[in-house]
Amino acid sequence: MQPLKGLILSGGKGTRLRPITHTSAKQLVPVANKPVLFYGIEAMAQAGIEQVGIIIAPETGDEIREAAGDGSRFGIDIEYIVQDEPLGLAHAVLTAEPFLGESPFVMYLGDNLLQGGIVELVASFREREPEALILLTPVHDPQSYGIAELDGPIGDSAGGGQDALRQVVRLVEKPSEPKSDLALVGVYMFTASIHDAARAIEPSGRGELEITDAIQHLVDEGMRVEPHIVQGWWKDTGRLQDMLEANRLILDNLDARIDGELIDSQVEGRVVVQAGARLERATVRGPVIIGAGAKLSDCYVGPYTAIGEGCTVTGAEVEHSILLAGSSVCDLDGRMESSLLGRNVTVRRGERQPRAYRFMVGDNSDISIL
Ligand code: TTP
Repeated sequence: MQPLKGLILSGGKGTRLRPITHTSAKQLVPVANKPVLFYGIEAMAQAGIEQVGIIIAPETGDEIREAAGDGSRFGIDIEYIVQDEPLGLAHAVLTAEPFLGESPFVMYLGDNLLQGGIVELVASFREREPEALILLTPVHDPQSYGIAELDGPIGDSAGGGQDALRQVVRLVEKPSEPKSDLALVGVYMFTASIHDAARAIEPSGRGELEITDAIQHLVDEGMRVEPHIVQGWWKDTGRLQDMLEANRLILDNLDARIDGELIDSQVEGRVVVQAGARLERATVRGPVIIGAGAKLSDCYVGPYTAIGEGCTVTGAEVEHSILLAGSSVCDLDGRMESSLLGRNVTVRRGERQPRAYRFMVGDNSDISIL
């Protein structure tokens, strides 16, 4: 088999993560202080893939290029492919055809996180040589996902070796009466036959060339499309709750390490304090990561919080939240929790009386005061 290439989809609109995505690509929002996109790139490198193409949108492409560079820091070669409009995942594949050529490839959605990476999946694809291999995971609400029906016992999502013998017979987008609970995870393996399939389909109701339709086309043409049921967790970080959940899952595996400065502070559990961060009279209960140059004083930082580079937390309590670089939380009466602050955001209590709330907030923001 030819060497495998990688294709990471990092274009799109990111409407569900607005307002963060008004100014920044959603694939660069950090999970445990590392851009989501980097987890995908690292998964490719770990699986021995040397050539990776990244689909970018004209609006956010430069920022992604700047963050990931030529790939040398990951030990791979990265090539950038501009998709002028986000016309669907299958459209992204067609846009990448000159880069992919006849090579088989792994396609990875740039805002997805997959525990355990793709090494096992790549091995199974090489060994079994199907036309396509799709990753699936059992979900509780199949009505909300793209769902795969397999031949063999209906709804059996137990996983294990027997799945290798089964085949995908039908893919249905958000079925009202699901025949299986196996949702498509944002990672796929294809041979070059997917290009013809993507050319053969028509745009869907929402005007996109859907990858599910292209895969269904392969099935209808009698090609072998196999399932691979993921054993670990998978997260699509496209919405706030999912982003916080991904942050929680990654922080759960943190190895404690204190490189910053601690003054009269208490640190419990799995906590990373990066070099140049300074904690004064702070209580931190892990898992928590505190980025380089952050300043924390007279504060409490609770589990599942990622504080970005150069942030300030003073006279406040923060828990289960993500603060992007340069943000500040100061002098709050209550605890801030389950929040995502963009870059250079300030949340503070005003000094003047009356003690009213005062905001300057961008479009599509979401603030809950209890
Ligand atoms: P989605 O999250 O399905 O789409 P989106 O980015 O437009 O987001 P939203 O629904 O919030 O508006 O896309 C999954 C991944 O694929 C994401 O990393 C963006 C990328 N993508 C492309 O690169 N090109 C495309 O044409 C589409 C639709 C998505």
